[in-house]
Amino acid sequence: TIDAVHGARILDSRGYPTVRVSLELDDGRTVTGDAPAGASTGAHEAVELRDGGSAFGGRDVTQALHLIDTDISGLLTGRSWSAIGQIDAALAELDGTTGYRRLGANSVVATSIAASRALAHAADLPLWQWIAEITGSTPRMPVPHFNVLNGGAHAANELDFQEFMIAPVNAGSMADAVRIGADVYHALAALVRDRFGSLGLGDEGGFAPSIAAPEEALDLLVDAIRTAGYEPGVDQVAIALDPAANEFSQGDGSYRVLNDSLDRDGLVDYYRHLIDTYPIRSIEDGFAEDDHEGFRRMQAALGDRIQIVGDDLYVTDPQRIRDGGEQQLTNAALIKPNQIGTVSQTLGAIATAKSIGMASMVSHRSGETTDTFIADLVVGTGTGQIKSGAPGRGERVAKYNRLTEIAEQHPELPYGLI
Ligand code: PGA
Ligand code: ZN
Repeated sequence: TIDAVHGARILDSRGYPTVRVSLELDDGRTVTGDAPAGASTGAHEAVELRDGGSAFGGRDVTQALHLIDTDISGLLTGRSWSAIGQIDAALAELDGTTGYRRLGANSVVATSIAASRALAHAADLPLWQWIAEITGSTPRMPVPHFNVLNGGAHAANELDFQEFMIAPVNAGSMADAVRIGADVYHALAALVRDRFGSLGLGDEGGFAPSIAAPEEALDLLVDAIRTAGYEPGVDQVAIALDPAANEFSQGDGSYRVLNDSLDRDGLVDYYRHLIDTYPIRSIEDGFAEDDHEGFRRMQAALGDRIQIVGDDLYVTDPQRIRDGGEQQLTNAALIKPNQIGTVSQTLGAIATAKSIGMASMVSHRSGETTDTFIADLVVGTGTGQIKSGAPGRGERVAKYNRLTEIAEQHPELPYGLI
């Protein structure tokens, strides 16, 4: 049983308030869950509760904290709970809206994460093992996708694409993958410092030099991989992109990249040129969230060559993922618990993707905390891929360090893509 529920205001990695939920359990143990926050959020995401007004630029969370201490506490305390689905369903019923507009998706996701920790504790299992057990998954260590160059809504430079990631696909273990990521990150730091005089910093810990052309960013990555002593290649040290095309969409299937206005086929051709030229294994949100026709054309043209990931397109919603599979919009889904609201729905999104042959990549948000839930989530569900920003900055490395810890304790877990 849960004896007490408490909401606390903590700061996220951008210095804005977010929600931490603490659950006091009957054996004296306290477990917590933190809500992360996006910047390039999808229009169809579950909705955070923010105060408005003047404190913290309108982003304070006093109403959310109040609802945690009253309504959510009233729901959860003194009862005995046996399954996360039961808790999450009770939260949804208590909320009574779509997208958790009343309680706030921030209150709900933090509660659901804390409740998962409580149930894993009651089962006497590490969180990832509990997740593997309740989902019937084969656990696996994921390929980390380190976001080392930042643009778009995450940086102050002129780079239209949001994320340039390196993925050590051919590493032999989690420890190898982290070492390769850190080596490339340091080689890149030296290159950027030499060429631009300063590093710049994006929200996810990557560098943000004043470049504008995606090709310039990609050249830097390839150089950094080589200088660090590794081989760039889709099956070796690969590159992944998240253009986050919502942010440079002009509506009506038209996109502004550098100074060019591209139509759908023009943008598909541009991506084809990039994957012909660079070792790119994955492109996420290549089109705007409601441009299904753009995604359909991209999947038809490039889906047999690279992974095409839907993030804002699917917002971790099992129904949207199912529809996307039927319409052949992508071959992969991004998984962010706070986009949909609860752990059960997140597990449902992963299960749905798997059942229709889509890959899943688990993801942090650009505004993060030191909560490491997503590390256990990706291992327990065995999806084989995670992105958690640069291999630098505490809130990003918290996840990579948790993965390293699990790998050290369980060397039998296989590493790599499925
Ligand atoms: P966000 O960005 O957390 O700011 O939404 C991450 C992403 O687009 O993948
Ligand atoms: Zn994205």
